[in-house]
Amino acid sequence: MAVREIKNNIFHVGSIDWDRRLFDQLIPLPHGTSYNSYLIKGSEKTALIDTVYPPKLEEFIAGLKKSNINRLDYIVINHSEQDHSGSLPAILEMYPEAQVLTNSKCKELLIDHLHIDEERISLVNDSTEISLGDKTLKFMISPWVHWPDTMFTYIPEDKIIFTCDFMGSHFATSDLYVKHEGVIYEAAKRYYAEIMMPFKQQVKKYTEQLKNMDIEIIAPSHGPLYDKPKFIIDAYSDWASDDIKGEVIIPYVSMYKSTDKMVKYLADKLMEKGVKVTPFNLTETDLGELAISLVDATTIVFGASMVLAAPHPAVIYAASIINALRPKAKFISSIGSYGWAVQLGEKMDEQIKALMPAVKAEKLSSVFVKGLPTDDTYIKLDNLAEEIFNKHKAAM
Ligand code: FEO
Repeated sequence: MAVREIKNNIFHVGSIDWDRRLFDQLIPLPHGTSYNSYLIKGSEKTALIDTVYPPKLEEFIAGLKKSNINRLDYIVINHSEQDHSGSLPAILEMYPEAQVLTNSKCKELLIDHLHIDEERISLVNDSTEISLGDKTLKFMISPWVHWPDTMFTYIPEDKIIFTCDFMGSHFATSDLYVKHEGVIYEAAKRYYAEIMMPFKQQVKKYTEQLKNMDIEIIAPSHGPLYDKPKFIIDAYSDWASDDIKGEVIIPYVSMYKSTDKMVKYLADKLMEKGVKVTPFNLTETDLGELAISLVDATTIVFGASMVLAAPHPAVIYAASIINALRPKAKFISSIGSYGWAVQLGEKMDEQIKALMPAVKAEKLSSVFVKGLPTDDTYIKLDNLAEEIFNKHKAAM
């Protein structure tokens, strides 16, 4: 494993996962990921910040051996999810003198999930300062980005902050720092949508705090580091803002093309009005693409066929994921075509309302038809496009 010096005896000793394609058995990883761990060699003491995903333990240990450290005094755990803490038991065994530094919530979770000996853990808080000699570790307890245990670690002498998941990206690259901002912007936005978006208020608060600190490098635990912190701070400020972008997304599924015709017609009508719209065929789309679009979506229009006497399960699944991600959408609608049952409209409205209690969106008109869309269906879709356009205009 490559060991790379970031600056002044601060090293990246993490692991790049080029091949991983699924996270939490849910989140697609089109570009792999990395588990960044950092070794800090102070003039008197040495500290490790976070560890790596357990399948990468062997290469992680090889990297630590290459780093020529005789002893490890501290292991800072910024977050107990096991892609960062999972190798901790093995590292504690390797370095019996090392003490874990973390906050009280993270301590509780480390004991629950990894059975870490309580005696090996020392608690830190916002006012704790740990001297490594010529470097100081300071801590910002920052819960809910994205677990209740999350915190950041700051070294004022080097103006570097280790933010764990916050501001990270699932992106495997040999670049230590962000080189191509456009590429990492998309990866970081996908990561924000999937991991951070449900916690917008905390994201806003911590982004504002970072904006006001003296920081030269932001070092997250996934993806490349930011040596121009403004790039990711500005992106996070925008994504978490309450600004209305006026975009429409249409997650849909169509069995015999009738719903598909309705979706494409509505999308065309919105485009003609200058409204940005993206249909997502739920049988084809990458869940991450849908998540990214939710960051800026003002209106969500669900499109569904009917399976037996209920809306297609793909739409039900999408609604439950969207609810979990808590997007800032202001308006919601549904459209679709059914075969022989007659209650698709009623069932869709009922189920979407029940599945999305966290999305506080105003319900707009719905459009449903039995079989192929008719002239009347298209008139109703014209009206829906007009309604969306006017609602956006009034809200912006
Ligand atoms: Fe990358 Fe929440 O772990």
